[in-house]
Amino acid sequence: MVLKPDVIIFYPSNGGIFEEKQILSDSKTFFVNAVAHELFTPITALLGLLQIAKEGEYVQETLGKMEKHLKRMQRIIEQLVLLSKLEQQEYIPEKVKINLKILIDEVISEYDKKIKQKNLFVHIKVNKIIKTDTEALKIALANLISNAIKYSNQNGDIIIHAKKDTLIIEDKGVGIPEEDLKNITARFYRASNARTFSGSGLGLAIVKHILRKLSLSWAIHSIVDKGTKIFLEIP
Ligand SMILES: Nc1ncnc2c1ncn2[C@@H]1O[C@H](COP(=O)(O)OP(=O)(O)OP(=O)(O)O)[C@@H](O)[C@H]1O
Ligand SMILES: [Mg+2]
Repeated sequence: MVLKPDVIIFYPSNGGIFEEKQILSDSKTFFVNAVAHELFTPITALLGLLQIAKEGEYVQETLGKMEKHLKRMQRIIEQLVLLSKLEQQEYIPEKVKINLKILIDEVISEYDKKIKQKNLFVHIKVNKIIKTDTEALKIALANLISNAIKYSNQNGDIIIHAKKDTLIIEDKGVGIPEEDLKNITARFYRASNARTFSGSGLGLAIVKHILRKLSLSWAIHSIVDKGTKIFLEIP
């Protein structure tokens, strides 16, 4: 594949052509700071809300807001635990034959509500039996598909199709700025145009580790305001 500035390619053996540049943002100090920041924000909000609840006003409303912050913290911690397991080689893939279309349908059904809310049209053209670790691939696909949904505009199209040995997940959403692309899989990294969308920037870090464990190459091709294509090698 020819390398263009708006493409980043990951090979399972060495973790990616851009690995050197990623070392900076993947370093331990960056990580500890990012974790502290990610958890500090909801904790500060929780303490403020707790104060309001203690004063006895707007109790139900305040508790509802507190629940949202706590759920977000729970999700971040769950994802961090998964990431650290993947990094410590504890995860040994268990490969079985599966129908890829069924797996994709399962993932899509989990995001049914969001797809309806945004009135997205999801086209799926996949007809393949593959041999893989179902659980691990499902987590990777869920992260990639949830991004396609989240970063799509209202009434957008999402196209998921398999061509020979490549699965392509395509959206026509906000895209990723070229300068953010090289760091996009680093933990907690979010592009400059993603701030109005909720998220913690852990999804693609998890995808990268899973695909490395499964020895699958993948690539991100993205153009701002045009959309994003993920190319994923299917075994
Ligand atoms: N399909 C996409 N379209 C546009 N930008 C994307 C897309 N997928 C990923 N990105 C960019 O990459 C960043 C990292 O993605 P990632 O999935 O890791 O984090 P997130 O979606 O922000 O949060 P979460 O941890 O909840 O997944 C996003 O913040 C966004 O800037
Ligand atoms: Mg995401």
